[in-house]
Amino acid sequence: MNITFCCTDAAPEPWLQGLRAALPGADIALWAPGAPPADYAVVWAPPQQFFDEQPQLKAAFNIGAGVDALLKLQLPRQTQIVRLDDAGMSVQMAEFVCHAVIRHFREFDAYEADTRQGKWSFRKPQARADFPVGIMGLGVLGERVARALAHFEFPVKGWSRSPKVVDGVQCFSGTQGFKDFLAASRVLVCLLPLTADTRDVMNRDTLSQLQPGGYVINVARGAHLVDDDLLALLDNGQLAGATLDVFRTEPLPAEHPFWKHPKITVTPHTSARTLRSESIAQIAGKLAALQRGESVAGVVDRGRGY
Ligand code: NAP
Ligand code: GLV
Repeated sequence: MNITFCCTDAAPEPWLQGLRAALPGADIALWAPGAPPADYAVVWAPPQQFFDEQPQLKAAFNIGAGVDALLKLQLPRQTQIVRLDDAGMSVQMAEFVCHAVIRHFREFDAYEADTRQGKWSFRKPQARADFPVGIMGLGVLGERVARALAHFEFPVKGWSRSPKVVDGVQCFSGTQGFKDFLAASRVLVCLLPLTADTRDVMNRDTLSQLQPGGYVINVARGAHLVDDDLLALLDNGQLAGATLDVFRTEPLPAEHPFWKHPKITVTPHTSARTLRSESIAQIAGKLAALQRGESVAGVVDRGRGY
């Protein structure tokens, strides 16, 4: 079995070493233009030339959860696209989102500002019941985040394309459930895949439907959020703040107003990182299953876009 590796923003050597150790029978090489045809690929945001030159691939393993960068390309018809299925990401996402929600709810930024000035002062505790958290996307990551927030006894709402049942979470689905979901949420967390249906989903109209004092946490993709609409609603006081991990252009350009906005916390697309050894173990397991003719989890439905 031949495997080609083409990942634009990962140092290749540790991946190649890890893949060779996990798949001792396979011939694994770094892709370069003109490389010989392979059976399988391990990729992250490869150039179009990669697929143009590898039309025979049986499957391409994406070393991330989101496949929006891949689906922008012209892909060979028979190549299965397989995404990472958790591989250590959901626990990171749960800790990141819980941290952002709790930091806002418990007013830790304000406490920090006070204590830096030597002030020993208390704020009136806010009621958890007044902080319903709505999670858009109840997939591998969203469901884990929803359960983690429910553990802290926040009222948790979830929204997905198809109907779901998650313990401790009030679930809404489809376009018909969206208005009610927004009206039931004060903190809004985006964990949707980026598709034609979800691009710009957080805009002036939808964000205005959140409960008063709304707070936005975007950990999915920058293009889910209309930047200027968020800024306008923060500046007119309709929204209380935002934690943003993902941006339309990454790295976030130095002149972008998000960097210095007092109500926005920026992190550099780090909420759930790809973990190399977990990812390699998962890819090796799925490759072995595919070789045995079995189906695997995480195969992307190209028509749906995720
Ligand atoms: P997933 O398992 O595919 O789950 C996607 C969820 O979104 C599903 O619940 C799906 O509904 C729902 N959904 C899709 N289209 C929808 C629509 N039009 N309306 C309502 N709900 C819709 O994905 P995941 O593994 O949880 O990952 C989600 C995204 O997180 C990724 O695509 C990626 O962009 C992002 N991500 C970011 C980071 C980071 O570091 N910031 C790390 C990893 C992933 P159904 O359940 O009905 O299908
Ligand atoms: C990261 O953003 C991923 O999609 O895995």
